Amino acid sequence: MKNIVSLLNEFKKIGLTSFDGVTRCVYDENWLAAQKKYMQIASDYGLYTFVDDIGNVYATTEKNLGQKIFILSGSHMDTVINGGPLDGVYGTLASLISIGTLMKKFGHPKIPLVAVSFSEEEGSRFNTAFTGSRYLMNKLEDTVYGLRDHEGLSFNHARQNAVTQLKELASELKATGLIHAFIELHIEQGPILEKKRQDIGIVTDIVGQKKLLIKCYGVANHAGTTPMNMRCDAMKKAVTLIHQLYAVLDEFVALRYTIGQIRVQPNAANVIPSEVDFSLDLRHKSQKRLDDAFTAVKELTELNDSILTIMTDVNAIKLSDQLANNSALAAQYHNSAYQSLISGAGHDAQIIAKYVPTTMIFVPSIKGNSHSPSENTKSEHLVNGQLVLQQALYQLAYI
Ligand code: GLV
Ligand code: MN
Ligand code: MN
Repeated sequence: MKNIVSLLNEFKKIGLTSFDGVTRCVYDENWLAAQKKYMQIASDYGLYTFVDDIGNVYATTEKNLGQKIFILSGSHMDTVINGGPLDGVYGTLASLISIGTLMKKFGHPKIPLVAVSFSEEEGSRFNTAFTGSRYLMNKLEDTVYGLRDHEGLSFNHARQNAVTQLKELASELKATGLIHAFIELHIEQGPILEKKRQDIGIVTDIVGQKKLLIKCYGVANHAGTTPMNMRCDAMKKAVTLIHQLYAVLDEFVALRYTIGQIRVQPNAANVIPSEVDFSLDLRHKSQKRLDDAFTAVKELTELNDSILTIMTDVNAIKLSDQLANNSALAAQYHNSAYQSLISGAGHDAQIIAKYVPTTMIFVPSIKGNSHSPSENTKSEHLVNGQLVLQQALYQLAYI
């Protein structure tokens, strides 16, 4: 069987962009190819593959999970637009390899193991994130199905088309037992582990996150004939509001905020914009400070006569101390230097941690780069992280 580094190189080709990045948005053809390839690898390991109605793909040690409790491990298969080759897919493939290897070496575990490749976590196509893990935890709102991508295709339409194809290859997961624990292995996506020369990070907390969509309205009219004092220009409103947002949000210590996406209607050089919408991503490790920042944004948008919609809202969360200890033992087993840290990135683990004991294991990111083609991790760290995950799963499921 191939090791984690060669598999990651193969998956990098599924959605490779001309900028040497990877774009694999939920339900697109690259995403479908990647989920199918994941299923094939699972079958090669002798694992049983399943799919659910949102497009999460599972590889299990049991043919029939029924009401048994089980241990879940995995991450997401989608990427950001022109993202890196590791975010998400590292954890999906590493859990698959780990569970497949454990089954081959030691046979069936005492507690069934399930690898998962979540359909979507990034929010890069439908402007809402974590739909795979939210679905698994029965927390996906019906409104998500009506969301549209920037070409106007609905989430539900894209989902049906993709999931139908996956269902030709695997049956539907029917598991009603509790999830005993969830472990997600991921690249750090920040500079701390590299700076501190650590091999492994054990996550104690994940920051809270609110993804907002803010719309400013104007009236489309001729760029040459409409006097400046007779215009209602959505771009002018948006720029004014954005300027005020930067000034106010800079006052919040340790807040991370990003306006990373902006759309103009009708998007023509000689037409006054009728609508401008932009994203605002807010994160803070203190839920209170995050809520305060949100209130400040809400007040400003109202003052500026703009419309604010919350697209994703996940609370800051503390992960399991007990499972962190288990991960620490696994790191020690592999003689890895490790430390605790907080995750500033969002993860499926933070959706699941609200309901199930959850832990995350990080490996260093070179120069802390992520969500870009320069995202990278040393091969030895990738291999070591997979082995630490495997050991952590072994300790939980076999002993
Ligand atoms: C997901 O990776 C996020 O943190 O936005
Ligand atoms: Mn990720
Ligand atoms: Mn990401």
